[in-house]
Amino acid sequence: MAEQSSDAFIFFGATGDLAFKQIFPALRGLIRDEKFDVPIIGVAKAGWHLEQFRARARDSLDHHGGADPDTLRKLLDLLRYVDGDYADPATFSRLRQELGAAQRPLHYLAIPPTLFATVVEGLAASGCATNGRVVVEKPFGHDFASAVELNGILHRCFPEEAIFRIDHYLGKEPVQNILYTRFSNPIFEPIWNRTYVRRIQITMAERIGVQDRGQFYDATGAVRDVVQNHLLQVLAILTMDPPTGEQSEAVRDEKVRLLKAVRPIAIGDVVRGQYTGYRSVPGVSPDSTTETFVAVQLHIDTWRWADVPIYLRAGKKMPVTATEVWVEFGRPPRETFAEHVSPVSSHMRMRISPDIDIGLGLRVKQPGERMVGKDVELILTRGGAANLPPYQRLLGDALHGIGQLFAREDFVEAQWRVVEPILGDVAPLYSYEVDTWGPQQAARLLGPEGIWLNPAPPALAQAQDTANVQ
Ligand code: BG6
Repeated sequence: MAEQSSDAFIFFGATGDLAFKQIFPALRGLIRDEKFDVPIIGVAKAGWHLEQFRARARDSLDHHGGADPDTLRKLLDLLRYVDGDYADPATFSRLRQELGAAQRPLHYLAIPPTLFATVVEGLAASGCATNGRVVVEKPFGHDFASAVELNGILHRCFPEEAIFRIDHYLGKEPVQNILYTRFSNPIFEPIWNRTYVRRIQITMAERIGVQDRGQFYDATGAVRDVVQNHLLQVLAILTMDPPTGEQSEAVRDEKVRLLKAVRPIAIGDVVRGQYTGYRSVPGVSPDSTTETFVAVQLHIDTWRWADVPIYLRAGKKMPVTATEVWVEFGRPPRETFAEHVSPVSSHMRMRISPDIDIGLGLRVKQPGERMVGKDVELILTRGGAANLPPYQRLLGDALHGIGQLFAREDFVEAQWRVVEPILGDVAPLYSYEVDTWGPQQAARLLGPEGIWLNPAPPALAQAQDTANVQ
């Protein structure tokens, strides 16, 4: 499809949580910053009318930073609302009417995947899918087979280039900065391989628990919630080969090639944990065995990465909220200065959230007569959270038909293939205390020499120039 911009924005699940937390704030940003000016139609089955829907939009913005009067007025003017059952063809006839002269609608499915087929078929039967695009939210399926099935449902009405599978990590500025830093500085490429890199770690730690999402989370768990998608996206960007050519698909092609070389995770390479108190969260089963923490070891079977151990870890109720990547470089072949050197003194640290850092860890001599050094970090970039929120960035791209920052069908299927063996209760579940770094057993994965590199709290990370090794 030519990259013409969509001329209407429709979101299903318009009265739900995602709309409240992400979609209205993203629309505010698009109206304010990009003069977005097409009908915005919410669809839901809530028994609401337009004024209630507008009040919801106002409430959402009040909770998420407010809006200047012009932007708010514009948003409220653009809003339309269709109330109805997704299984009822009349709902889609009303939607077609509301679309008026619009010919290229963008449909956002902010609804449970179990409703995708019904909605997509309703869109097709009513003509609303014609020349349209569709945005779908994660989790995209719950295993390999269901992802293939979902892709089949979407493809019945939309070609692949009209499908935008959201992973909001791809809309994060620092994730794009990993790609940029790697491929705009030729000094990194010669050392970005098994000869110089001895280990890679990626930690996604969150202080929050599962909050009010108990029911969703209990059916999902950490592997499906963040490893299959966010962490494998980050890993692919970190380890892929350089994209070649100018085509817009070059980056996605290389990411898929990399992910296809990641070995499906062995059961012995996973440690699962659950925080104390999780089972009393509303919506969570009292004898739940869902993991709220997971640590895995991965292997990439390529010439570049063979035998480099790669560790991913994600958990709720950890001591800090931070997502951080560590690429640990090799040690000097012998200790020339007979001093004790931290095993991770030489590294590249990339902090993705909530604040942003790229630091290159090196060792320099301390002034004095003795040949004794200290670890320092050369900070390549540092900052607070990016000012373009991921959802605004991604919705803007989808509206313009730009797919690079969305997960392609082959990538999603490759992601599921990697995690498939460790879905469910395949490995023991250990409990861990709130405000700790997960169960002790996670240390086992690293072997006797390894240590998990725990991200520092945001304020501390900004203040310190040396590696935080715990
Ligand atoms: C979501 C997960 O995709 O990402 C949540 O469903 C998680 O469980 C969230 O809290 C984290 O996103 P961020 O942008 O705060 O790192």
